[in-house]
This record gives sequence, C-alpha cells and structure tokens, in this order.
Amino acid sequence: MTQHDRLLIIDFGSQVTQLIARRLRELNVYCEIHPYQNVTDAFLAEFAPKAVIFSGGPDTVTRKDAPRPPVSVYELGVPVLGICYGQQVMMQQLGGQVEGGKISGGGGTAEFGRAFVTPAGQPLALLEGLFADGREQVWMSHGDHVSKIAPGFEVFGTSPNAPFAITADTNRNFYAVQFHPEVHHTPNGKILYENFVRLAGFTGDWTMGAYRDDAIAKIREQVGDKKVICGLSGGVDSSVAAVLIHEAIGDQLTCVFVDHGLLRQNEAEEVVSMFRDNYNIPLIHADEKELFLGELDGVSDPETKRKIIGRLFIDVFQKHANAIEGAEFLAQGTLYPDVIESVSFSGGPSVTIKSHHNVGGLPEKMGLKLVEPLRELFKDEVRALGRELGLPDNFIGRHPFPGPGLAIRCPGEITREKLEILRKADAVYIDQIRKHGLYDDIWQAFVAILPVRTVGVMGDGRTYDYACALRAVTSVDGMTADYFPFSHEFLGETATRIINEVQGINRVTYDITSKPPGTIEWE
Ligand code: XMP
Repeated sequence: MTQHDRLLIIDFGSQVTQLIARRLRELNVYCEIHPYQNVTDAFLAEFAPKAVIFSGGPDTVTRKDAPRPPVSVYELGVPVLGICYGQQVMMQQLGGQVEGGKISGGGGTAEFGRAFVTPAGQPLALLEGLFADGREQVWMSHGDHVSKIAPGFEVFGTSPNAPFAITADTNRNFYAVQFHPEVHHTPNGKILYENFVRLAGFTGDWTMGAYRDDAIAKIREQVGDKKVICGLSGGVDSSVAAVLIHEAIGDQLTCVFVDHGLLRQNEAEEVVSMFRDNYNIPLIHADEKELFLGELDGVSDPETKRKIIGRLFIDVFQKHANAIEGAEFLAQGTLYPDVIESVSFSGGPSVTIKSHHNVGGLPEKMGLKLVEPLRELFKDEVRALGRELGLPDNFIGRHPFPGPGLAIRCPGEITREKLEILRKADAVYIDQIRKHGLYDDIWQAFVAILPVRTVGVMGDGRTYDYACALRAVTSVDGMTADYFPFSHEFLGETATRIINEVQGINRVTYDITSKPPGTIEWE
C-alpha cells in the first residue's frame, strides 16, 4: 500500500480549522486535523508529519493553562506554519512575547475583519506570487497580538494593526501569520498554502485514483474473506461506499435496500436496476411498503413519524441482514466532517459524531463491526471518488433526500392518495428544473403537499383539491439555506404544468422562507 505524505493540522478550536484541511486537500495534499489535547510526543512520532500547521483558536496564550502543542513539534525538523492563535503560541514557545488585546483586557490592538498586508524585508518563498498589486487583502480576527518576535524570526509582512503580520525563521522553516489564509476573505490565501506545501516537499500525491487504490487495499485487509452488509439508501454516500466495497471484495458484499413506500417516483426501480443490473452487486430489495404505511396510518405528528420510521427501519434491516449468513461487517457512508473531533470553547475535547440516521445503533445491536471507507473524505471528495468509480454524473449530483422520505413532505396525516399526488407533482417539478438547466445550481428542491384543500375552477367545473408548496434552496451544508430566486416565468410555467398534469392539485405556492428561521423540510 502506498504511504502518502501527511500533513498534521493541530486544532486549537478555531471555527475555520476545517477550511485549512479543505484548502490542502484541493492541493492534493493528505492532511488530518487533530485536537491539540491528542497531540503528544508519541503521537507525533507515530504520525510522522511532513509538515505541521497550528490552527487559530479562541483562547489567549497569556493564560497559563492555554492550549499549547508539545515543544517536540519544533524538533521534528519539518516546516511549521502558525495561524493567528497558532502564530502566537509559536512565538511564545520559541521565546517571543504576546500581549493581550481588548478581549483579555490588555493594552494591545484587537483587529477583526478585512485588513491589508504589505511586504517587508527580503523575498520569502512562502510569499511567492503574492503582492502582485503591492498588497494583499487578508482576514484578521484576533484580540491578542505578538509584541516581540522570537529569536531567529524576521518580519516579511505588516499591516497597520499587525506589525508582525507575517514572520518567519527561514533557517528552521517556521512560518507565522496573524491572519487567516484559509478563509474566503483572504482571496489569495490558497497561494500561501501552495507555497507552504511546496517548500515542505509535498508532491501532491493525494488524488482520487490513489485514494481508491488505497481504500480497496484497506477494505481487503480489514474484511479478509468475511461478509459485509451495506444499507443502500439511493443517496450518494451509501452508493459510493457500496461500489467501492464491491470493487474490493466483490460478492462478499450484499446490499440491503429498504423500500419504505416513502420514496420518490421510480426511485426504487432506479436504485435496484443500477446496483443489481449495472453493477451486479448482490442486492436485497426489501419491499416493506405495507408495513411502514400501515403503521403510519393516521399519524400526523412529525416527530412520531420519524420515530416510527426509524424503529421500523432498524427492525426490517436487521431481519433482512440476518438472512445473510456469516456477515460480520456493516458498511456505512460516514464522512470526515462527522468524525473530526472538535475542540470546544471550554478547552475540553468534545466529540461530535453524527450517527448515520438510518442505521444508528445497529452495529452494536447486531454485533457487527464497521467498515467506513469514506471516513477520510469531505462530501465533494466523495463525489469525485464516485466519478472515479464510474458512477453516472446525474447520480452523483443528486440532491440530498431525507431518511424519512416523503413522510416529512406530507404535513398532517399521511395517506397513500396524498403520497401518490405528491410523487407526481414532485416529478413534474424536478423535470421542470432539469429542463431549465437549474438542477445543479440548487442544493435541494422538492414539493410538499399541504393538508388543505382549496377551491378552484377548471373548464366549467368547480374543483376542491390539495394545495402544494414548491421548495428550492441554495446551501453549502444544509445548516443554513436561502430560497432559490426562480424567475416568475419559471414559477408560472411550473404551476400550470403541475395543475394540468397532476390530478388532485389545484393550487401551487412557492416557499420563500430562508433557514433560519425556517427549516428546509416542512417537518
Ligand atoms: P432541515 O429541514 O432540518 O433539513 O432544514 C436539513 C437537511 O437535512 C435533511 N433532513 C433529514 N435527513 N433524516 C434525514 O436523513 C431526517 O429526519 C431529516 N430531516 C431533515 C433535509 O432533507 C435537508 O437536506
């Protein structure tokens, strides 16, 4: 198995540490984020980084017990880059001085927001390609500031409020910047990272092709000749995981696809034909519509719906998985953002691990070990891996779809009739979006069928049918979202098509609520 060059990011609790990793991954550099508490001498020796970056953080190094890296990090003989808090901690440990700013009550200069750095001193390899216009816009966010640089360091960039905006000890390859090169508001920050990894000797060997080969080797080593079960939802993560594992171990993998009757039009057929027919992956299509819809009958409370679906899902999945003899592993599409340990503001480690909504608790319940081949990837890397594995583009670019499916797009009581109407309306809406070339500009789009009937007139007759709401949002991660600015023409045309083509709907509205205060789904 190839061993990639590895870069270590020591996290001191900045809100934007993940962005550092994103920038580096874009440069085909393999990196991992680890909270400072975990970075011991032994850890450093084992991780053997080719370079180290200290993130920013909310604490102040003027405090005795403030977070610090072990001093052995400076003896590894590899380049180190300190950012913001990371800069201050580096200066202090190496013999410089840091003064508190407004925040910690000292007399220094706090600085938040946009600033401009101008070059100073000799040219520096780290800054190659920067300052083409004589200055660089950067993003500052600091209360404390360095008041005296450490021995061996020189100044290479200054801003009005940060005389030591960029400093370096070029003999030891230590670099320290007061601003955040990883954020969007430091437009040329990427160049700085590019220079840093180049001078650290990274070759950019972190490609999806290489990842795929490594991941396959790892899966083979972990699983041996045992069997693996993978729950397939039709979403991108579980699909990519399934295809990757299938490449690694072939028919030792069986997928279980639970059809709870709350899927979109033709969705079950598409998933089954893609995996069973195109990929030849052994697939159990668990048609459990009657069970789910029967238990949901008459239920209108959103949380109760979710609980019923979650419970039945586990039961059903377990029933079908038990039929696969000798399975010892369960595959999950866990991603890197789900497993990064974050440094909390109290200073203690706080672990945020989202359990995979559908199979949470299953591995313990069934005594299965986990296979999580996407644990090191960000979402867009999963898509790139999917492309590498030959999954079709229109599949990889699919909008997210919630585990409870159409149940949470059917406020009020769920009936088969409403679900059928909803499926048809949703299909027309998505067709419209695709026809207008808007699908990839939208993060998520769907129809919700409303629990109201309204009066209309069609031909010479009165109608009394359901109203529906169209939803389309832009978002980065689903945490915040804004409504998509369709043209009135698009909205008018779509409303007409839905009312004409879908029996049971006679009124169409467009939901223009952002998140917050709304949520993306209606329930
Ligand atoms: P909200 O409605 O909370 O949705 O703004 C944010 C994102 O999460 C999805 N979502 C769910 N996904 N189980 C899931 O697997 C759920 O219960 C659930 N609720 C919301 C939603 O589709 C959106 O992408």
